[in-house]
Amino acid sequence: MLESFDINSWTGPFPAETRARAQGALERGGVLYFPKLAFALLGRESELRDARLSDGKAKNISLDHGTGKLQGTSASGERAALLAAMMERFGAGATVFVRDLLPNYAGIERARTSYRPVEVKDRAYSKLHDDRLLHIDAFPSRPMKDGRRILRFFANIAPPQPDGGGSRHWHVGEPFENFAKAFAPHIKPHFPGKSWLWDKLGVTRGRRSAYDEMMLSLHDAAKQDASYQKNSPQTAMAFPPGSCWLVYTDQVLHAALGGEFALEQTFHFDAARMGEPERAPIRVLERLTGRTLA
Ligand code: SIN
Ligand code: FE
Repeated sequence: MLESFDINSWTGPFPAETRARAQGALERGGVLYFPKLAFALLGRESELRDARLSDGKAKNISLDHGTGKLQGTSASGERAALLAAMMERFGAGATVFVRDLLPNYAGIERARTSYRPVEVKDRAYSKLHDDRLLHIDAFPSRPMKDGRRILRFFANIAPPQPDGGGSRHWHVGEPFENFAKAFAPHIKPHFPGKSWLWDKLGVTRGRRSAYDEMMLSLHDAAKQDASYQKNSPQTAMAFPPGSCWLVYTDQVLHAALGGEFALEQTFHFDAARMGEPERAPIRVLERLTGRTLA
């Protein structure tokens, strides 16, 4: 489930064997782990290890690299500029790394960059927003339409601690297909016309497909099922300071239980262009339900 790589460089070229192992493990629902790939903070950037950078409302601080717009932070002026520059350097580095590691993924799209400076354990969330509960990712306002994938690259930038602390702690659940088999038959269809209306009102960026509706329902159903949270198969993973990891979060059930100071870069990729497209959540759900979902 955890596929480890010795890589300590942010740029390729990487050996063909490494690239094939990375793509194969990712598509099979593995978590790629890079224990020696550290994202180093430079100069005054170390002052950004500060939970007060959060505005206390948004879950994460996010950067849209297209517009340079920073959201979810209390920082302004010089401090906001330092934060944005650090996040942009991370996002650009992550993008080169992922493109060099997965050269078959032509057309992979860099989406938002996020910074998560608040200790996960200490936050209060509503159940559906609580990422300490096992879930797959599905974005309420950004439809993935024909099964576009959500691939996320994370870095733990907490300071290394002499006692070995500072790790980001995750639980990873059972394979997507097993999860979908258990939940898909009980999912109620969304109200007809709702996705059309939300698109018209600008609540969503484009219209949700049946696939989007199903993924949102699966996300919610998993979080709301206390018995599933407690009893389903789970593997604990710890990502120490100075490490990175890469995972298809629309496929891999995950929960973040603890840790602070993580950076994350989201990518989108066409399901049809995967090496094994039949492993994409949309194809799995179509097989299980016998429906066309986009
Ligand atoms: C999540 O995607 O559920 C949160 C992951 C994290 O912040 O470590
Ligand atoms: Fe998530």
